[in-house]
This record gives sequence, structure tokens and C-alpha cells, in this order.
Amino acid sequence: MKRFACVEDLRVAARRRVPKMFYDYVDAGSWTEATYRANARDLQAIRLRQRVAVDVSARSTASTMLGEPVRMPVGIAPTGLTGMTWPNGEIAAQQACEAFGIPYTLSTVSIASIEDVARVATKPFWFQLYVIKDRRFTESLMQRAESAGVTTLVVTLDLQMVGQRHKDIYNGLSSPPKPTLRNLLNLASKPAWCAEMLRVRKMDFGNLQGHVRDVTSKTSLAEWTDAQFDPSLNWDDVRRIRDRWKGKLVLKGLNDPEDAITAQQVGADALVVSNHGGRQLDGAPSTIAALPAIAAAVGSKVELLIDGGFTTGQDVFKGLALGAHGVMIGRAMLYGLGAAGGAGVTRALEIIHKELATTMGLCGVTQVSDIGVQNLFPADRP
Ligand code: GLV
Repeated sequence: MKRFACVEDLRVAARRRVPKMFYDYVDAGSWTEATYRANARDLQAIRLRQRVAVDVSARSTASTMLGEPVRMPVGIAPTGLTGMTWPNGEIAAQQACEAFGIPYTLSTVSIASIEDVARVATKPFWFQLYVIKDRRFTESLMQRAESAGVTTLVVTLDLQMVGQRHKDIYNGLSSPPKPTLRNLLNLASKPAWCAEMLRVRKMDFGNLQGHVRDVTSKTSLAEWTDAQFDPSLNWDDVRRIRDRWKGKLVLKGLNDPEDAITAQQVGADALVVSNHGGRQLDGAPSTIAALPAIAAAVGSKVELLIDGGFTTGQDVFKGLALGAHGVMIGRAMLYGLGAAGGAGVTRALEIIHKELATTMGLCGVTQVSDIGVQNLFPADRP
């Protein structure tokens, strides 16, 4: 694993190993991908304040997320189709996170089901909920999550409809892949992935199959998912979920201070500042650009998490400096998973952890709770 020095190395290896349609699903934004690119570019542009001759021998990245101790303030964001990047990918990733000491969030549109992950988990994982038209199904997902010991529910608010993603259209994304000549040729060049997938034989949406009506074939499962996102989703629905869900509630997809204020008033335990990794509203600002105003509006009242382009420990440091309490990573985890399965996820986490600890040291900081705007180069402070 030492040959992977940074998450970018894992990305390159994942691109070689994972079939094009599933790699492209991960490494993409919507429309022109301007927001997708802005997330990473705006993070990179922020400069740090170098400090010297501070005793940083006893540094700790330990922190808390939703009141639970974590080895570093980083959690895994929910990502769809994770089990197509690596067979049983959700299980491999959950186990890697559990061993590392950070939270894992399972997506509604995962390949492994809530029950599949619960069978191997020895600590509670987080579950991400999509509110779909069939509210009975939304309720049944919450019941299943409760039975599986999930204590933290992450409700996604920014996918009432799917942002148009051109790569997915060109690739004819479906799970399992349709046996077109183009797909078969590409699969033939990914023998390691194919061999593992043939062994595991799991390519359906685990949380939907057998639980939704009118679904007979694998393809219609995918179509069903697309047709079921609910554009009528509104704050009254969110309030009802808040009343219904007894555990911790995280609202994800806030990229505007006014929405963040409402989300905090609804009674969320945490918010995720997110533009869905640039996969939804192209043209929206990067999350790191949106963060300072949101932190000023609600940062003292609710735990703020952020995602969108965070792939290094330095990115995590910058998110914390600008007012986030923790950072969620999606693609960085998937690059590790695609490169080397669970061991690759562990490697991604080790890399980010080391980068964060080193950055703290070179900025003269020993505790995560001490990271703040004072650690940024003055011209780059909001
Ligand atoms: C689903 O969450 C997606 O962004 O594809």
C-alpha cells in the first residue's frame, strides 16, 4: 500500500481497475462540471499561515462527530452504487472505517442493503435517506435503519431530481451494465474487477430490491429510483421526519445561509454544507466558498459538516479553519476502494490522517479544536 503516497495515486489506480461507466459515475459533476471543479480549485487556492518554533510534538487529530469520539474529524459521505466500484464495497468500506475510528454513511442507493451491512458492523453506522414519492417506503427505510441499530440518519435535501450528468448519459449507466458491445469491450479490459464481481454476484440496489412494488427486473429498479425522487419535498416533510426520527438527524445539501437557518430551526443535530459533489446544481458556488457565511449564520447553534472536493488532509484543515466541525469525504474513499478494496479505503484514511497531522504541525497547532481562521494566510481569510 506504501506505493500509494496520496489520494491522487489511488484515483489513478481506481481508474485502471474499475469499469469506465462506474469510474465515470464517481469522477463527474453535472452539466459543464464547473461546480465540481470549483469545489477542488477553491480549496486549493486557500493559503495556510506557516508558523515555526512551536512545540508540536504532542499533536492529536482526535475529535468528536455528533458527540461520538473520532480519530480524526472526517466521516464517509453517502455514495450511490459503491458496490459497483468494488464487490461488496459498502461492507469493505464500513469495516475499514470502523477499524479506523470514523463514521461510515450507507446510501439509500447502495448495492449492499442496510441488513447486509448491519450483519458485519459491530458499531452503529450512519444511514442516508432519500425522501421518495412513496412515503410508506421512506418510513420502511427508517424502520429498517432503526432495527439495524442505526443511530444517525442523514437526510439528503439537494436531490429532488437528478442533475444531468453527461458522462452517465454517454455511458448508458445502469446496474448491472447492459451487455452492449462497448460495455463488453470495456469489461474485457478489467479482468480483476470482473472476476471478483462474478464471485460476489451482487449488482442490484440492495435497499430497494424485494421492498418496492412494481419492480420486476434489474433495469427497472434503476428506472424506478430515478422516477421516484420527490420534487415536492419541503420543510414540512423535514419537520415530520425530525418528529419521527428519535436518533441524531443530519440534514445534507445546504449551500445557502437562509436554508441553513431553517434547517437548524427544524431541529437538526448537524448540517452538511454540500452541493452534492458538484453533481446537482452546476453553477452553484463551491462549498468552501459558501461555508463562511453559513458558519456565521448557524455555526454556534448546530454542528457543521462539509463535503465537496475534499481529498487531502490539508483540505480537511482548511474546512475546519473556515468553520466546519468535520468533513465528509466521498470520492477519496471511492478511489481507495476502487484501487484496492477495503485496504485501499484504509490507505486513503491513513494518507488523509497523516496529511492533517503534518499540516497541523507546520501551522503550529496541536489540537483540532484550536484550528481556526488564524491559521490561514491573512489575505485568504473571509
Ligand atoms: C447519488 O447520490 C448521486 O449523486 O449519484
